[in-house]
Amino acid sequence: MILPVLISISLVHIMVPAGYYFWMKRLSKKGNWNLTLSDFEPKVTLIVATYNEANIIEDKLNNIRELTYPKDNLEVIVVDSASTDGTAQVVKDYLERNSLPFKTIVIEEDQRRGKSKALNNALQTASGNIVATSDADCIWTPQSFNNALKYLSDKSVAAVCGVEVLTNPEESSAARTELQHRQVFNFIRVGESKLQSTIVFEGALALYKKGLLEKFDEDCDDSGSALNLVQKGFRTIMVPDASFLNACPRGWKAKATKKIRRAQHLVDVWWKCLKLSLRRKSKMNPWISASNIFLYLFNPFLFPVFMVTIVGIFLTWPLTSLTIPVFLLVPKLRDGIITYLSNYVFLLYAILMQALGRKQIVWKK
Ligand code: GDD
Ligand code: MN
Repeated sequence: MILPVLISISLVHIMVPAGYYFWMKRLSKKGNWNLTLSDFEPKVTLIVATYNEANIIEDKLNNIRELTYPKDNLEVIVVDSASTDGTAQVVKDYLERNSLPFKTIVIEEDQRRGKSKALNNALQTASGNIVATSDADCIWTPQSFNNALKYLSDKSVAAVCGVEVLTNPEESSAARTELQHRQVFNFIRVGESKLQSTIVFEGALALYKKGLLEKFDEDCDDSGSALNLVQKGFRTIMVPDASFLNACPRGWKAKATKKIRRAQHLVDVWWKCLKLSLRRKSKMNPWISASNIFLYLFNPFLFPVFMVTIVGIFLTWPLTSLTIPVFLLVPKLRDGIITYLSNYVFLLYAILMQALGRKQIVWKK
């Protein structure tokens, strides 16, 4: 009988992520950082890469202005990759109208080569010992920058990133399910950070020690940069007391575009990690790398098996199908199922795109 085999495979498909989630959640709540933190106020360069952000870039500059960090130790670089909507001009006009208390530099690239290349371009000009990155469309909460920075006072930490808080979680089904996804993943990333490091990084609020970073990874976005630092023997962590606000795309199409792109970067970075592990060169905590390699690279292929198993169970024991209305009528359960299904569809699609060599270094805005 094939059903018992399918059920066993399905149990692995469900229990491994569930087990990892509960372990990491516990660690994120009860674990220790094992860090020695002290006050320090290094020179910081904040880089905002922009492509076609004319509508929102002023809000971002206003948000940066509200930072409570000593202005003499802060430098801001906006690096724009030949936007077609006049973003760079909007920034220059803003700087003429407002005299900012910190040095602000605008770099205009003549061609669009992607966010990471733009960040590397800005890095050549950056004078800070710490380099921070942010996206044009996210807002930092007042204390988040100072909170994140203090973790870099420990010698073992090379990079810190913040936690995303959604501004529109009730707006649509796409946003509601993103909130569920976030609640699970933030626990996992903070748990991994307490255990050692997370390399699933958030470029919307990320801080790096420039001397260790050397350059941003141009293949796998922020997560690639984090992996490179872990490979140098340092920790890269997500900290719960530094948050940034971001809106989730309202519609499913826009959400899918963004999620698949992010998933492609992650599939790429965990693939690199798998190759490092096989060559015994990985510096990641083995539990973290093995779990994520399984979750991102292997478990998606068990998803269709799980679907077939469910159908098999309903056909073999028809009474079990009476549970279907419960799953469909309880809103949280229904959203949970949509979150689960969509995540695996996005992941499988991302793996396919990576396999076909369709990397997303420059993406549609
Ligand atoms: N200079 C430059 N050049 N900036 C760019 C380019 C480019 O070619 N492409 C995108 N950006 C800028 C955007 O203007 C924005 O400020 C930031 O990079 C993030 O891009 P979004 O288009 O807003 O992407 P997102 O909302 O999906 O961002 C998330 O995913 C990205 C990777 O897929 C965030 O996590 C980003 O930090 C991450 O890089
Ligand atoms: Mn964005």
